[in-house]
Amino acid sequence: MPGRIPQNFLDELVARTDIIEVIGSRIPLKKAGREYKACCPFHGEKTPSFTVSPDKQFYHCFGCQAHGTALGFLMEHDRLGFIDAVEELASRAGMEIPREAREAADGPDRELYDLTSAVSQYYRDELKGDARAKEYLLGRGLTGETCARFGIGYAPDSWNAVLRKFGSAEAGRHRLVGAGLIIERDGPKRGDDNHYDRFRDRIMFPIRDARGRVIGFGGRVLDKGEPKYLNSPETSLFHKGRELYGFYEARQSRADLKRLMVVEGYMDVVRLHQAGITYAVATLGTATTQEHLTRLFRVGNEVVFSFDGDRAGRAAAWRALENALSQAKEGRQIRFLFLPEGHDPDTLVGEEGAEKFERRLADALPLSEYLVQHLASQVDLEHVDGRARLAELARPLIAKVPPGVYRELLVDRLAETVRMPGPRLAALLKLESIPGERAANVDERDEPSRGATLSPGRRNLVRQAITLTLHHPHAAAAVADPDALADVDRPGIALLIELLKAAAGAPKSTLAGLLERWRDRPEGTHLAKLAISELPELSREQAAIELNQAVNKLLADGSPARRRDALLVKARSGQLTSEEKQELQKLLAARTTPGSPQPGGG
Ligand code: GTP
Ligand code: MN
Repeated sequence: MPGRIPQNFLDELVARTDIIEVIGSRIPLKKAGREYKACCPFHGEKTPSFTVSPDKQFYHCFGCQAHGTALGFLMEHDRLGFIDAVEELASRAGMEIPREAREAADGPDRELYDLTSAVSQYYRDELKGDARAKEYLLGRGLTGETCARFGIGYAPDSWNAVLRKFGSAEAGRHRLVGAGLIIERDGPKRGDDNHYDRFRDRIMFPIRDARGRVIGFGGRVLDKGEPKYLNSPETSLFHKGRELYGFYEARQSRADLKRLMVVEGYMDVVRLHQAGITYAVATLGTATTQEHLTRLFRVGNEVVFSFDGDRAGRAAAWRALENALSQAKEGRQIRFLFLPEGHDPDTLVGEEGAEKFERRLADALPLSEYLVQHLASQVDLEHVDGRARLAELARPLIAKVPPGVYRELLVDRLAETVRMPGPRLAALLKLESIPGERAANVDERDEPSRGATLSPGRRNLVRQAITLTLHHPHAAAAVADPDALADVDRPGIALLIELLKAAAGAPKSTLAGLLERWRDRPEGTHLAKLAISELPELSREQAAIELNQAVNKLLADGSPARRRDALLVKARSGQLTSEEKQELQKLLAARTTPGSPQPGGG
């Protein structure tokens, strides 16, 4: 948890780190002007489009849009968790992470992680001594190597094996309950004997988090029995809606995962990995959530959902589609693979092998196709009524897709099916931006240029100020009172204020240092985009002047009340242009409370 490492330590660390050194020690960099270039380590290419800027302390690939700071590079390239990446940089810089921070990073759950890891090892040891369990896994086609890679084990057929081994003291039992490994009996307590093991006589699949720590288990019965799979309950370590089985193993398998396949079961993941399809992950008996998708798309641009061809599989696929819509956008591929009825990836890859299985991916339905086909199957396309109904069914779904090129293409695809010109359908669907999206997105509101050097054409003032601050953090010191901007009613203004303060607060702040502060916040993505944009070269003084001008303009006319008053003053002297007159009329109209009864109305 980044928040637990003191900010001043991080600032210092970023300031002492040279991104050229960090990246240059991993891939060969060539100097090109003020920047450095290389073939991108995150996607295959022959001509270099990966650039590293020593000024910004930032890298960016024009080919695959990968970008980030030195810390981000280590996390992506070396597949390190945040803390580990910090540690790596710290040791390079001869710094030491404050001990409390290192421990606090695991929080009060530290002891739980130690426990789950020890119990996982115990299950593995038990497997070694149990012929029946080994036989079962062998019968399911798993090799010893695969079992080792996934840490598969066996929970013995006992009501208290784990309890006895790890819970002889009160504190141990308390932890076992916290980790979901033992259950407290109902009814009157009988001495020490009021708990029992949750997992008994089951094949145990440890569930690991992105850093490889065991956070829970899935246990499968060996023969018949209910339930077939038993999962750890939600604990402080384990949240089903967030974790993906096999995610850690997939990430370990290679540095440049581009595609991830989401399957339904533990065995599917394990068997696919064994066959060489190491990009398979599974949700843990739940629908795919937004959090899952966010995680998946952080790794690659392509997600394929694979579902059994039966009814349940189709229902699950549609639920996945509904959740995936808000993540759909250009540059991302979301597809759906339907397997023949009666098969799952486990049986299929066992039967036909990896190569044939992967060939099926070519036939996976893109999200847009699946959406249109699924809806079309519910209406009669031969009649106008049916086509109108289709548009109606599609409307709430398409509204979930963020505005952009992808959504337009989706509307076009739908328009084809309802036989209507795309723009007309779009108008009929009355698509609006998603609420919240607008506020978070400072690109949204364009306005005429006011002659600043940064604004060739139409640019947004808030965005300009943010970009300037990012690229020239030292300029923030020139802004006397960032808080005065709080009155200004513009999207992104809160972010600007915070950024100005952060930049002015840290004397050595760099673009990378600022980005790190937003690492885990949604606005961070947006800032990173602005960090990529190129600015004309400005001296320190010019940058400070530009930033001040932008802020003053925002102060002068960004607040509607101030703008209105300014226009009223001008109006009194009869100097309003016709545009300004219109603007003033709008501002005055906006002042009357909406919905208040009009005199003589009704
Ligand atoms: P195998 O029979 O071992 O091949 O399992 P499978 O993965 O093919 O099983 P299935 O398709 O029935 O289930 C898919 C996933 O749903 C499993 O991996 C579990 O995560 C979950 N699941 C299946 N059965 C149960 C159950 O009885 N209880 C719970 N909580 N989850 C289950
Ligand atoms: Mn199966």
